[in-house]
Amino acid sequence: MSPVKAMNVLIVGSGAREHALCWAVAQSDRVQSVFVAPGNGGTAMMGGKVRNVLLKATALDDLLGFAVDNDIDLTVVGSEVPLELGIVDIFRAAQKLVVGPTQAAARLESSKVFSKEFMLRHGIPTADYHVFRDAHAASSYIGSPETLFPLVIKASGLCAGKGVFIVSGKEPALMVIRELFEDRIFGDAGNEVVIEEFLQGQEASVFALTDGTRYRLFLPAQDHKRIGDGDTGKNTGGMGAYCPAPIVTPEVMQKVEERIIKPTLKGMAEEGFPYTGFLYVGLMIDGGEPFVVEYNARLGDPETQVVLPLLKSDFIAALQASVDGTLDEVSFEMHRKSAATVVIASGGYPDHYETGKTISLSDDIAEMEDCMVFHAGTACEGGQLVTAGGRVFSVTALGQTLKESIDHAYSIVEKISFEGAYYRTDIGTKGLSI
Ligand code: AMP
Ligand code: GLY
Repeated sequence: MSPVKAMNVLIVGSGAREHALCWAVAQSDRVQSVFVAPGNGGTAMMGGKVRNVLLKATALDDLLGFAVDNDIDLTVVGSEVPLELGIVDIFRAAQKLVVGPTQAAARLESSKVFSKEFMLRHGIPTADYHVFRDAHAASSYIGSPETLFPLVIKASGLCAGKGVFIVSGKEPALMVIRELFEDRIFGDAGNEVVIEEFLQGQEASVFALTDGTRYRLFLPAQDHKRIGDGDTGKNTGGMGAYCPAPIVTPEVMQKVEERIIKPTLKGMAEEGFPYTGFLYVGLMIDGGEPFVVEYNARLGDPETQVVLPLLKSDFIAALQASVDGTLDEVSFEMHRKSAATVVIASGGYPDHYETGKTISLSDDIAEMEDCMVFHAGTACEGGQLVTAGGRVFSVTALGQTLKESIDHAYSIVEKISFEGAYYRTDIGTKGLSI
């Protein structure tokens, strides 16, 4: 047998999710180097195989040029914007292997109208909805006596997680419609608007890695989207997560596979857009019945920071199998542990916040077992680590139980400080009461 070629891997993105991707990929003996474009302060400090590349995640031609010039064997796309721009299409056209969906398949995330109509065509459980393309029609619907509140109003295009409004009555609903169609707060991303039924229940996220037909499932996770304890205040990119989420029982997972994952992959293939890469299914679970709240065309952030550390098998082998069409042959084992991640954010996030704050990290973190401090908005300036974004760290810890992983994660959070640092104090507690 010829020896396996040492691989060069490129990761596209700059958040804690991409730091976790680098961490997982770099563990494999078969990986020689990991480049991350543009990466962050944490990936800059990893050393060894890992190096940041000063290219934006949206500079597709430059990224392809880098991949060709540096003999990159596999590219993994972390964030949604390059997927919507068609990074997978241009890499494939140049015969470069890449993990992610094509631009057409990524519409499951980049167009809520496409995803809702797709689910309707294929009988996939989701909230009832209507699509509107002008303010007049949307306002008439809102004003109709048959319309019940609360309602959920969504801009169809990508809005960095800010395009969803839950409205309790007619007046706030009409205001959102004016903002979307008249003030155009999201530009073209708000040209089409979905208005849907409000779903009750608890949310969870399920991720599949797929080659278009075959798929493997990671353990289910739960995100904490609101800024404040007790799920209060504004929506954020996610303030923490834990995995596995007990709300997703084996019975629920079975329903998710049969009613959602399988028909989604089959439907996309039948319609001529085979879905490849990571499929994120955002669920609402009500009385043991799963409904799709949203699809994303990538892994979640912060869910990745708890899902990947629980994967026992070689991650890069699974990624390689997903592009070779051998996913059903590869090992995909999980650790029998729990993981929790607590996001430390800049004071003021998700609204205005300051950056450039000096960060202090206690030295003993490096020696602690079963913990990973994933960086998001950090930068290295003259050898000093400083804040550079809204979400700054995602502090992950493992434990034999969920409680142990939560306590462990918070004990590490206390060892990190910068002016204005903010975090939720109740990450994972919902999972303890199930
Ligand atoms: P999305 O970007 O579609 O995931 O929506 C962002 C968040 O809004 C979700 O994570 C839910 O918390 C909430 N949400 C979206 N759609 C609904 C719905 N139909 N019913 C209840 N909550 C929803
Ligand atoms: N955690 C939510 C997301 O990644 O979209």
